[in-house]
Amino acid sequence: MEAVPSVYVTRLIPKAGLDLLRGCAQVKVWEGELPPSREVLLQELEEAEGVLSLLTDTIDAELMDAAPRLRAVSNYAIGYDNIDVQAATERGIMVCHTPGVLTDTTADFTFTLLACVARRVVEAAQYVREGRWKTWGPMLCLGYDLHRATLGLIGLGRIGGAMAKRATGFEMRVLYHDLQRQPIQEQELGLVYADLDTVLRESDFISLHTPLTPETFHMIGAEQFKTMKNTAMLVNTSRGQVVDQKALYDALVSGEISGAGIDVTDPEPMDHDDPLLELDNCVVVPHIASASIAARTLMATMAAENLVAALQGRMPRNPVNPEVLDLKGRR
Ligand code: DGY
Repeated sequence: MEAVPSVYVTRLIPKAGLDLLRGCAQVKVWEGELPPSREVLLQELEEAEGVLSLLTDTIDAELMDAAPRLRAVSNYAIGYDNIDVQAATERGIMVCHTPGVLTDTTADFTFTLLACVARRVVEAAQYVREGRWKTWGPMLCLGYDLHRATLGLIGLGRIGGAMAKRATGFEMRVLYHDLQRQPIQEQELGLVYADLDTVLRESDFISLHTPLTPETFHMIGAEQFKTMKNTAMLVNTSRGQVVDQKALYDALVSGEISGAGIDVTDPEPMDHDDPLLELDNCVVVPHIASASIAARTLMATMAAENLVAALQGRMPRNPVNPEVLDLKGRR
């Protein structure tokens, strides 16, 4: 009979995921509201064979070396830029993530954020709360229409594709840029592929859907803001570091672009005195694009299933480095 593996979960996740894990492993959960400190992680992983991690945990080579029994890291996120995947592969540690289950939820939210910025929803609600609403006004809180505007998608993976579908309902013209062209989506949804500069220059709304990699770090900076229309609005639900945040502030203040909605910041959490928080034309929310009850529950079960499979020597449904198991020989 195989021994029950020990697993560390770095935060409370929806119960469905924890129940699933508890049926197959000895589970310890960090129940703090804030992530476990580096010291706690180093100590807890000394004995763990599996870890269910969050994007707030840095899982690097040093941590892996301090975790001699670690065989699997299952990230409760689609993004895995918090994990040194190469170091994991070199050590035979399987890394998994949660693609697919948060696609529509994230696209719903991204579109909502876009609409909030275009139609000045947050500013308008604040206006009412402050008791400044005296009468209906012909010029009050004028914004920009979404319908029939041009949407520029940077990255046409799952979430970018789901954004494109939503955009067709608003009769938007959709431009996209990606490393790979997507001829089927081009045909089915009428998307137009363009180089990055063209997308930046021609779009009324620009939405970022790239993973964070060395290539996408600060992909949108001073030069790119100069290329955008003065009326353009940027939405980011990918990773904060894809945008040079200082350049974003300058572009919003100088009028190089007219608005932004950012769900992700650099750093996270954003400093309370960050100058972006003083701008009416910038909406900042706390990395909640996938935060629906349904999506987070599915993420929990998927992350748990991935971890159990990896620890049982089976190929998980969502491996990042499947070659680890191939190297060891599948069961
Ligand atoms: C992810 O999954 O990478 C999101 O940023 C959080 O759901």
